[in-house]
Amino acid sequence: MTQAFQKVSAIRGMNDLLPGQSAQWERFEEIVRGWLRSYGYRNMRTPVLESTRLFARGIGEVTDIVEKEMYTFWDGAEGKQDQVTMRPEMTAGIVRATIEHNMLYDRPHRVYSIGPVFRRERPQRGRYRQFHQIDVEALGLAGPDVDAELIVMLARLWKMLGLTDIRLELNSLGQPAERAAHRTALIAHLEKHADILDEDGKRRLYSNPLRVLDTKNPAMQAMADSAPRLFDFLGEESRAHFDGLCQRLTDAGIEYRLNPRLVRGLDYYNLTVFEWVTDRLGAQGTVCGGGRYDGLIELLGGKPAPAVGFAIGMERLLDLWQQSVPAEAEAECDVYVVHQGEGAQRLAAKVGEQLRDAGFSVIVHAGATGFKAQFKRADGSGARVAVILGDDEVANDTASLKYLRGEAEGAASQQQVPLAQLAEVLKSKG
Ligand code: HAM
Repeated sequence: MTQAFQKVSAIRGMNDLLPGQSAQWERFEEIVRGWLRSYGYRNMRTPVLESTRLFARGIGEVTDIVEKEMYTFWDGAEGKQDQVTMRPEMTAGIVRATIEHNMLYDRPHRVYSIGPVFRRERPQRGRYRQFHQIDVEALGLAGPDVDAELIVMLARLWKMLGLTDIRLELNSLGQPAERAAHRTALIAHLEKHADILDEDGKRRLYSNPLRVLDTKNPAMQAMADSAPRLFDFLGEESRAHFDGLCQRLTDAGIEYRLNPRLVRGLDYYNLTVFEWVTDRLGAQGTVCGGGRYDGLIELLGGKPAPAVGFAIGMERLLDLWQQSVPAEAEAECDVYVVHQGEGAQRLAAKVGEQLRDAGFSVIVHAGATGFKAQFKRADGSGARVAVILGDDEVANDTASLKYLRGEAEGAASQQQVPLAQLAEVLKSKG
C-alpha cells in the first residue's frame, strides 16, 4: 500500500506568481524594457548561483546580508567542494562577469538584468526570501552626470507608471580616506555612549560603526542624531561631485532630500547613494536603492574602473503600481472555439491553427463537455468571440459565431460563416 503523501507547500517567503497576476508583471516588464532601451541599456544575464567568496568580498563580510541572510551550501564532489550562494543581489555577479569577459577594455557599458534574488530575511509584507529586482548598472563611467542620468531615468519611469507618492533621498558617502577619518570620530562618539548601545550596536561598534547610526532603536536615536556626520568630512572633490549631481537634479526639476543617515546595507558604495521611498507600503517603503561603487571592480580583481547603478524591488513597485492604477483583468485569448462531436473536435484543432496563422490568440476547448458548459468557459476566458463547430458546420464547411463582448456582442449572434472567410470576418468585426 502506498503511503499518503503529505502535501508540499512553497517555502516561507517565496511566492508563486499565479496566472491572474502575471499579466500585470508582464505589462510592467514590457514598459521597463522599453524604458531601459530608451536610455541605451542592454540586457545581461548572470547565474543565480555564484561562489560565496564573491558576495563576501563584494558586499562586505560585516553586512546583514553576508552575516545572516545568504542561502549558502557546499557544491561539488567530496574533496573538491566549493561554497556557493544563491545571489542576494545582482551587482557583484555583473561586476564578476564584466571582469571575467574583459568588457571594459575599450568602452563603458550600460547594462540591466531582471530576475530573482534571495535573502533569508524575516518575511512580511514587501519583504520576501525570494524577490525580484530590476538591476541597472553604468559601468566605466565616473561623472555626476551619470548619477544624475540614472535618477532622472527613474523619475521618468515613475511618471510612465503614473506613480506620484514616491520621494528621493540622497547622500554622499565620500571616498575611503574620508570615511576612515569620519570613522575614527564616530567610534569615539559611540564609545562615549557605550552604555546605551544595544547588542547590535555593540557588535558593530568597531566592525561597522556607520551602520550603528541606522538603528531603529528609539533609545539610541538622540545618540545617533548627535553623531559626527560623514557629510562634514567630505573633501573638495567629493563635495564637487555631490554638488554637480544636485545641480543636475535641480536642472531636471527633481526634488530630493539630503539624508545624512542614508548609508545603505552594502559596503561597496562611495560618493553618491540614494533611495526612492514611499509611505504607501507600510514598513518596507524603499522601492529602489543604489549608488556609486567606484572601488568594487578593483576589489574583485579587475582593473580599476568607476561604476554606478541601482536596483528596483519589483514586488514593492508592483504593489505600489497596483494601488495607483488597478490592473484590468486580461483576456486569456481573442477567440474561444467550442465544438460537439468527434469530427467537429478534429476540425476545431485545424481552425485553431488557421486563426493563429492569421494572428489571433485562440483557445480550442479541450475535454468532452456539453455546449452549455463550453460557452460558460468561453465567456470566462474573456474571449471576444466564440467560434462554434457542430455536425452542421462540419457538413457545410462553415463555422457559427457568437460575439461574447464588445460592440458586436449579441448582434450577430450565431452568424454562419464559410470557413474560408472566417479569419477575414473576425478581423472585420475588430
Ligand atoms: P538593495 O537596497 O539591497 O540594493 O536592494 C534593492 C531593492 O530591492 C530595495 O530597495 C527593495 O526595493 C528590494 N528589496 C530588498 N530586499 C528585499 C526583500 N527581502 N523583499 C523584497 N524586496 C526587497 C541592492 O541590491 C544593490 N545591488 C542595488 C545596486 C545596484 N547598487 C548599485 N547597483
